[in-house]
Amino acid sequence: MIRAQVPRSRLPKLLYGMMSDRGGAFADLARRYPDGVTVPLPGRPLHVLNGPEAVKHVLVTAADRYEKGVGQAEARAGLGRGILTDEGETWLRARGSLGPWLRARRIQQHAPAIHRHAVDSVTELAGPHPRRMPVDGLLAEYTLRCLATVLGVPAPHVAPILEALDIVQDDAMFRVVTQDRIPAVLRPRAEQRLREARTVLDRAADEIIAAVGAAADTPDGSSPAWADRDGVISLLLAGYETTSSTLAWAVDELSRRPALADALAEEREAADDPTDDPADLLRLMGQLRLTTAVIKEVLRLHPAVWLVSRRACRDDVVAGWPIRTGDDVCVVIAEVQQQGWAAPDLFDPARFLTNDHGRYLPFGLGPRGCPGASLAHLEATLWLAEASRRLTLRPALGRRTRALARMSMTTMPGTPYLIARRSVARAVSA
Ligand code: HEM
Repeated sequence: MIRAQVPRSRLPKLLYGMMSDRGGAFADLARRYPDGVTVPLPGRPLHVLNGPEAVKHVLVTAADRYEKGVGQAEARAGLGRGILTDEGETWLRARGSLGPWLRARRIQQHAPAIHRHAVDSVTELAGPHPRRMPVDGLLAEYTLRCLATVLGVPAPHVAPILEALDIVQDDAMFRVVTQDRIPAVLRPRAEQRLREARTVLDRAADEIIAAVGAAADTPDGSSPAWADRDGVISLLLAGYETTSSTLAWAVDELSRRPALADALAEEREAADDPTDDPADLLRLMGQLRLTTAVIKEVLRLHPAVWLVSRRACRDDVVAGWPIRTGDDVCVVIAEVQQQGWAAPDLFDPARFLTNDHGRYLPFGLGPRGCPGASLAHLEATLWLAEASRRLTLRPALGRRTRALARMSMTTMPGTPYLIARRSVARAVSA
């Protein structure tokens, strides 16, 4: 039951925390108030929920009483109303039309191409000499390539898209913190940057829309409802950064655990080398049990979508606590996924090889849950398996890797690693 309310005297410190370390501030709130808490923010209250009943109520049972909230609402300034941010009939049509494109069976057909992208991406990292370099840019490129393959469009020119999506996200976060109360005329440079970013994204979207329209295998022969400018831009953001940051966290965790990295290399070596037959990839995925468990554990400890937010569009009562129309509600996924697990702070992929199961919702729940989960699992597992086979990765910094919490929680961009080619024989005999 949500009973607590953050005292108003603590608000300035909390607001400062939300500006300087968003992830930490929300995690702290969720830990301090395990049964939920209301933050009396000026303008509209924010209810932070943790309990299983409350989370299920908002995301599943009473989903029709809520719309997308903090973060996504403000992102509309840059993203417009695509599947990620839209509501009502147009969202329903877009969501329905996207389903067939991301269905597990269709994704399976693209598995050989995704596997080739993984091998190419890892080969790019495996230079002739050991080197110190970040992995986030390369991972972003890989996940965008996979997305383009699944949509049946040529790989887009990645760098300008990433830069433009960064601008859109930074702008959304600024609007969250300022409750979108700073008029556009007071920040002309930021508005100009946002317009320029949107122009870049529109151009990329137009190319994708043209390619989708021209593709012979459009499920019903016409352009699907998701494939308008806002829809494509939504998909670009939702479909690349989440998986790319999941892999960046996997690299980070493995770089500090050489024995686990060796075990993954051994698992991949022992598995089959697939041909271009999708059935081979299905078999390979089945052989990568530990690699799959590592990805699941990364998604538990470092869920890319760390916070799911909603705004009430009707009065409601959650776990006995009244929610008024317009109130914000959020679920801090990273904290909810600490509940019900033994030693929840530990990075322990083996927990996914047993029946020790606690709360787990990295892809959300209910009608707005992630439609890209099958693709995300496939591309993350294949990349990690091929990287483990070919590379050794070590941290290049002496400290813990910092996180950047925007719409998704990424490793700090540019975090470097020491990367070298792996000697397979040594790994297997170790
Ligand atoms: C590890 C990778 C991923 C994670 C952790 C993840 C997580 C999530 C979560 C938690 C949501 C629900 C947000 C909410 O309820 O407000 C979501 C929504 C969404 N995801 Fe993913 N996602 C991932 C990959 C992908 C991929 C690869 C795609 C596309 C190909 C994708 C497309 C979407 C879309 C379009 C939505 C919005 C759905 C809607 O509002 O109806 N995601 N994702």
